Order: sequence, then C-alpha cells, then structure tokens
Amino acid sequence: MRLSLRFILPLLLALGLVAYGVMPLVDRLMLRWFEHDVGVRAAVVANTMQEPLVGLVRTKSRRKVLAYFNNITQGERLFAIGYCNPTLGALIATKSYPEEIQCKEAERLADGPVKLLSRDQGPLHVSVRTLMDGDKRIGQVVLVHDMSFVQRRSEETRRYVFYFFVALGAVVSLITVIIAQLSWRGWVQGIRALLRGEGLVRPAGRISAPELQPITRDLRSLMKELGSDFRPRDESQLTWSPQSLRGILRSDLHGEDILVVSNREPYIHIRRADHIDVQRPASGLVTALEPIMRACSGTWIAHGSGSGDKESVDRHDRVKVPPRNPSYSIRRIWLSQEEEAGYYNGFANEGLWPLCHIAHVRPTFRAADWEQYVAVNRKFARAVMEEAGSKEPIVLVQDYHLALLPRMVREELPKATIISFWHIPWPNPEAFAICPWRAELLEGMLGSSIMGFHTQFHCNNFVDTVDRLLEARVDRETFTIYLGGKPTAVKRYPISIEWPSGPEAAPSSVAACRREVRERLGLPAGHALGVGVDRLDYTKGILERFMAVERLLELQPEWVGRFTFVQVAAPSRSGIGQYQEFEKQVLALADSINLRFSGEEYPPIILKIEHHEPEQVYEHYRAADLCFVSSLHDGMNLVAKEFIAMRDDEQGVLILSQFTGASRELPEALIVNPYDIDQCALALHVALTMPSGEQRDRMRSMRALVSEFNVYRWAGRMLLDGAAMRKRKRLAGSGRAAQRVAH
Ligand code: F6P
Repeated sequence: MRLSLRFILPLLLALGLVAYGVMPLVDRLMLRWFEHDVGVRAAVVANTMQEPLVGLVRTKSRRKVLAYFNNITQGERLFAIGYCNPTLGALIATKSYPEEIQCKEAERLADGPVKLLSRDQGPLHVSVRTLMDGDKRIGQVVLVHDMSFVQRRSEETRRYVFYFFVALGAVVSLITVIIAQLSWRGWVQGIRALLRGEGLVRPAGRISAPELQPITRDLRSLMKELGSDFRPRDESQLTWSPQSLRGILRSDLHGEDILVVSNREPYIHIRRADHIDVQRPASGLVTALEPIMRACSGTWIAHGSGSGDKESVDRHDRVKVPPRNPSYSIRRIWLSQEEEAGYYNGFANEGLWPLCHIAHVRPTFRAADWEQYVAVNRKFARAVMEEAGSKEPIVLVQDYHLALLPRMVREELPKATIISFWHIPWPNPEAFAICPWRAELLEGMLGSSIMGFHTQFHCNNFVDTVDRLLEARVDRETFTIYLGGKPTAVKRYPISIEWPSGPEAAPSSVAACRREVRERLGLPAGHALGVGVDRLDYTKGILERFMAVERLLELQPEWVGRFTFVQVAAPSRSGIGQYQEFEKQVLALADSINLRFSGEEYPPIILKIEHHEPEQVYEHYRAADLCFVSSLHDGMNLVAKEFIAMRDDEQGVLILSQFTGASRELPEALIVNPYDIDQCALALHVALTMPSGEQRDRMRSMRALVSEFNVYRWAGRMLLDGAAMRKRKRLAGSGRAAQRVAH
C-alpha cells in the first residue's frame, strides 16, 4: 500500500503539472516563435515583391496586379495578398483575402505590428507594408500567411511533451520508491544498532564502529535528557498523595509490596504495670516513612526496642499497625544487649554518627563494635530474605545503621531493587577515610541500585569518597558508580513530611493552642513564646540556642519576663556517655540562664526532657510565635517543615540554621549560623518584632513549597527511578538472551 502510494503520487503530480502548467505554456511559446518566423518571412516576401509590383502598378492594370498576386499565393503558406492604392481604385485582393482587413485598416497597420486573425483551422498572420516607388508611397501591400501549421505543430509538440513527462514521472516515482525503501531500512537498522551501542549493522553480522561511539553516547544522553525533561513536567502535573504513590506501585512496579528496613521502628510498645502503651518515636526517619507505609502497605523490618514489643507480635514476630487502623506490618528484629551495645550505641552512634556530622565530637571506632555491626546487619538481611515475597523485591534501606545490608541482600537476591537512603550528612573523603572499615562500608552501600542523599552536596561527597577510596568506576556525568560492573545511581532526594497532615494531626485552633499551652506552662496570655523540638542530641545546637536566648535578654532587656523559650527534648541514646554528658550540659545551661533572670516572674527557658507524642508537639508549634532550629549539622531537619505545616494561620517565624538541608529549600526562614550567638540573638529579636504581614508572606511561600515537595514526592521519585532501573535491567537481560539465541 505504502509502496504503491509512493509510486503513484509522484506520477499523478507530474501529470497534473503537465495538464495545468506545461501545455498552455507550450502553446503560447510555439505561437510566439512561429509568429516571429512568419513576420520575417513576410518581410522577405514584401521585399521580393517590391520591384515587380511597382512595375505593375505603373501599368495601372488591376488585372495584371491580381494575376501577379494569384501567382504568388500558389505557395503553401502565403494565404492571400491585397493591395490598396486609391489611384488603382478599390482593394485588389486574391480570393481568400480576409474581409476584416479593408484599406482603412490596412493603412492603420502599415509597417506596424502584425495582426492575428483567428480561424477554426488556425490563426491568419496579417502584416502590412508600404509600397514605395522611389521616395513616393504608392499604397499598402497586405500579406496574409496561413498559420494553421502552428496548431498542428503544437499538437505534435504537446504529444511529445506529454510522453516526456509521463516517462519522467515514472522514473522519479521509481527512484522515490527505491530511495525510500533503502533509506528507511538502513536508518531503522542503523538507529537500532546505535542505540544498542553496536555501531553499524551489516547484513552479514554486527561490526563495532568505535568512531560512532561518541554519536551513540550523544544520542543516548539526548534521549535521556528528553526523558528527564518530560519527567519533571509530568511530575508537576501530579499532586503527590497517597493515591499517586499507590498508582506508581500498581502501574510501574506491578503491585509489588515494598519492604522498608531501618533500625528504628515506627511504633514502640511500652510495658506499663497493667497495660501496654504505644509510642511514636522522635525520629525524622519515622516521620517521613510512616505515611509512606500507610499509603503503600508492605512490611517494615525494624529493631523491636520497646519493653512491650515482644508481647505484641504474632509468632512470626509481626504486628499490624497503625494500632487504630492497621494497614501494614512491622516485622521486629530482636537484639541482645551485646548486639545493641556494639551495633547501635557503639559502631553506629559513637562511630558513624559523629563521623558524618561536623559537630566536633570525636568518633570512636572499636573492633568489637564493628563485629556486632556486621552480625546485626546480617540478621536484618536474613529477615529481608524471609519477608521478600518474590525474587525481585523492592527494598528501601534506611540510614547508617544498615550500611552493609544492601550488599548482603544483593548477594542473595541479585534481581532485587534496593533503594538506600542516608538520612544524615555524608562527610568529605578525608573525614570519612578515618574509619578503619571505610572500604567495607562503601562496598556494602554499593550493593544498592540507588543510593539517595538529601542534598547534592552530600551526593558529591559520597562520589568523591568512593572515587578516592575504592577501585570503582565513577561516571560523573550520570552520577553512577560501577563496582565490579554493577551500577549504583547516586541521587538527591530531599526528604519531607506528610502533606496534608495525617489523621492524628487534627489540632485545635491556633487560638486554643496558644491559650492551652501557655496555661500549661504557667505563662500569661500574650506572653511571647519560642519553641524548639529535638532529640536530645549534641548535633542539634541546643546549647547554642539557649546561649542566643540569654544574649537576646542581654541585648534587648525589654524581653526579660516577656519572652520564654520552651525546649521539647526527647531523651535519646541515653546509653552513650557523650549523650549523658550532653544532657547534663543542657540542664546546667538552662538552669544558669533561668537563675540569672530569676528576679522575673516568668523564666526565659523551660526545658522538657521527656517523650512527647506528635499531637503534643503539633500543639506547641501552633502556640509559638517562633520556632528555632539551630542544628550544628543536619541532613534535612523535618522539625522546620513540620512547624510550617502546622501554621495554617500563616503566622509564626522560623529561625533556621544554615547547616541544615532544609535551609536550601526554605530561604524565607531567618537563616542563621548557630555558632554566631549574637546573630542568633538578633534573629530572635527580629522574629519577635516581625510585622504580621511579613510573617504571612514568608510563611505562605514556605507552605507552598512544602505542600508541593511533600514526602509522597520524595518516595514517589525514588520508586519511579527504581522502576525505571528495573525496566532497563530487564530489557538488557532480554537483549542478552536474544544474543545468546542468535549465536
Ligand atoms: O534522622 C536521623 C536519625 O538518626 C534516624 O536515623 C533515627 O531514626 C533518628 O535520627 C533518631 O535516632 P534514634 O533512632 O537513634 O533514636
């Protein structure tokens, strides 16, 4: 069909051109040429006749003149002759002389332009010459030529032109068909081969064309760019929600369940005297991942650390959560005291935690801790194998406690899609290199299909570290690391929070929260209130925050007795000496500041070192005039984003450390250096005196960002990237299988 169209179309086009363009042109041209020829001939005839005719005219014999004319018109083309001379009387003309050219007309046409008279058989060419006898004009000779031959000739010519164009059309059609066939087949094969990275394809077999490799690369990266151009557009049309996440799992990951693996569990059962309580731990990781699991179902493998955890699981160590509306399972891993001490307190939190945070706390590495770390990672990996419903599970590995697990899982389940996320900063190569087990850790992480960090800066540090410390190929263009030929994509996924907020966040009105929180803290209505919410951790800058409050009261004494900072501090890692020490320092500093301003009725600092459930934390966010996040170093910091989410009244000011990942996304906050105490004190004053309109503008803009870049987007982006890698791997696999069959 396509073939015949390619043939007939040019042919029809050629014929159309002949009928409507070429033929009339041919007619016009022929007429013009022959008209010119006949004109020349008429001039020759007129010259030849001159002398004899003058002689005859002198005889004044009309008969002789007519006889002469009849004689001449015997010739084929001279159709008629006429002569006008008043001295000889009326027009003397041969029989066939046209009536239209009488003497008056002849006089007008004399020596001027020719005239064409149309006749059915073909036109007549009329030219008129003045007859001269010396200097004297003695009448006009009218020569009429028959031009019917022009019509005959042009018919003939038309026939030839028609045949010529039919032949030309056929040839052009044929050439079009042949070229189209050849080039289509060639291009398709060529492009396919290029995309496979094989260069040119010859019928006899594949040949490699190294000179084409750059073109292949360019073509691939072009396609990739087009793909990534399309993706953000596609994403911006998606409102990221639990539904869109479920959609991705259904469509892109074929309904596969996801397995989350982390040290910290999302719900902790606590044994009380006569009942079991359920607690939500203070953890950015849990804040982010819990809504994802509620949306996607699946299984969350985590350390069962609660005193009532063992009593709450079934015989497979599983428990359905959330307690009020179960939608996914926790699979609990039990650790002995030695394991917990070595793996969690020791290697993870005395070694890796200070190693990755620039908080000037020296990391401690012990061989015994390392051994426990390896053993516990293996324990978690075994649980992944047990919980995996297929040979290609999607495993989301969380954080620095489980750096070895990706490789352990990869060895058992080579087709698994392993997406690891590092929730804390990644240091520069020099800093990381002090870890005695640096290579083992990196190799463990590179068992992942994707290695995610909050910021591009952390991705860069990771890639630099691998480049410096391992024998791996690092492709900086695509940010992919190949270890033993196996790729790991290193990507930035800024973590976020649930938006809109989950079921437990149905807080009272801002006015009610302001009233109730102040009442509970023993503060009067209208008392200025700042809030800080953190685990009691030395990286959070709690001491620096208190110092800034003290400095504010020194510099701006009008706030003394009128401003209080409430610090909600969740007890954390209290088995570690550094944390015990830190708690003492925080308590001591709060006491000393309160003592200094003890003359006042209301203390500058209220420190609450106890567990708070999310609802209580949310209430504090809504009650406060400002929230102060002063981390010395932090991967992202979700407290900043939670505060914003809770301020639907568009009021309240966020003071944010420049050393958090969140500061990259939230420039409308008051960005501070927590080590610069004066600057922080000034920020507190600016926040407390900021006009409501400015608070609204800043808050509105930050809320818009967090609502769009919510945690569903964070997880969705990782899952989409994981799905794309999976597809590519499958395609590559089927390509190899096809090659094996071909050979
Ligand atoms: O967000 C960093 C992080 O270390 C998480 O990995 C962890 O869940 C959270 O802080 C709290 O720490 P922990 O689990 O040691 O109490």
